[in-house]
Amino acid sequence: MRVDGSAYRTVWADRGSGAVRIIDQRHLPFSFEIETLRDVASVAAAIRDMHVRGAGCIGATAGYGMWLAACESGGSQEALHRLADSLVATRPTATNLAWAVGRQLTRLAGAPADDWCRVALAEAEAIADEDVEWCRRIGEHGLRLLRSVADSKPPGEPLNILTHCNAGWLAFVDHGSATAPIYAAHRAGIPIHVWVDETRPRNQGARLTAWELAGEGVPHTVVADNAGGHLMQRGMVDLVITGTDRTTYTGDVANKIGTYLKALAAHDNAIPFYVALPSSTFDWQTADGIADIPIEERSGDELGFVEGLTDGGMVAEVAINNPGSPTANPAFDVTPARLVAGLITERGICPASEAGIAGLFPESGKSESH
Ligand code: MRU
Repeated sequence: MRVDGSAYRTVWADRGSGAVRIIDQRHLPFSFEIETLRDVASVAAAIRDMHVRGAGCIGATAGYGMWLAACESGGSQEALHRLADSLVATRPTATNLAWAVGRQLTRLAGAPADDWCRVALAEAEAIADEDVEWCRRIGEHGLRLLRSVADSKPPGEPLNILTHCNAGWLAFVDHGSATAPIYAAHRAGIPIHVWVDETRPRNQGARLTAWELAGEGVPHTVVADNAGGHLMQRGMVDLVITGTDRTTYTGDVANKIGTYLKALAAHDNAIPFYVALPSSTFDWQTADGIADIPIEERSGDELGFVEGLTDGGMVAEVAINNPGSPTANPAFDVTPARLVAGLITERGICPASEAGIAGLFPESGKSESH
């Protein structure tokens, strides 16, 4: 996507210097900063401390991190696996991370050690390019869905979509998952308006999704997380689209904390709740998302402090909780498949069920007959 007229991906290789470059998302929307990562430890820190975040972006960054690991390991399998483990340990819920690292290890296992550096860079570029292409296709499939809902509305009335967290281009390499259909519809001239959940505690909606949509000229309104149910009751939401950090092969969806409550409210108001994801986000091993998806428990500081811009234009952090009160901060929740109207993938839209997913991805080996 474009920032101040220049095209950017969220992560890319600087081949000349042998480094990975990222958009450091911690500073948005207040400043746009590029960070250079020169070793695996820096890549791991950037993922863990959320300089980059979002399913596809984490996966692609880990792919490039494995390029640095391949170069750093000096041809030692033991060193390569130790560096790979250090990347995988950074964010336990996001599937794309382990998927990208595993893909690199498989690729390198079949390559001569003195060629690892070159091979891993090519694989990292392939992972990133694929992410871009898959999100572009999600946009195409989602556009057809949005067009059909828009056509059912009185002429000229905007299509109102609610989204949670940031599953935009910042969360991938480009385009985004939940936002790809939105950008496609906006470009196609479909009148569209997005309700942007602020997404406490880190405010990825208010900070990142709003920044993205503003950059693309998409009409949007930031709302408190708790406003969604009310908006739905008043007929102000036509459909909900979110992203996901991990979706089981049975259709259970792990996403930013609060997503489940949106799905419940949507269900109660007969509003379709869609989830957009590339196939790299499917967990082909896990059947029961509620029981078996590990949920990151993050620092209580995310709840206790909030960052913003002062009148003087400085970024500052203030404490907002009662001093000494304990906090709990699960970062994700799981929306059961029964609440999901459909999954928008790079191969099309399918029901959130084992049979529906297997129908689009028969190579997964999961049953299509359930
Ligand atoms: O904690 P984050 O920012 O890594 O949260 C992940 C997300 O951005 C969301 O859950 C997103 O909607 C899914 S990732 C495309």
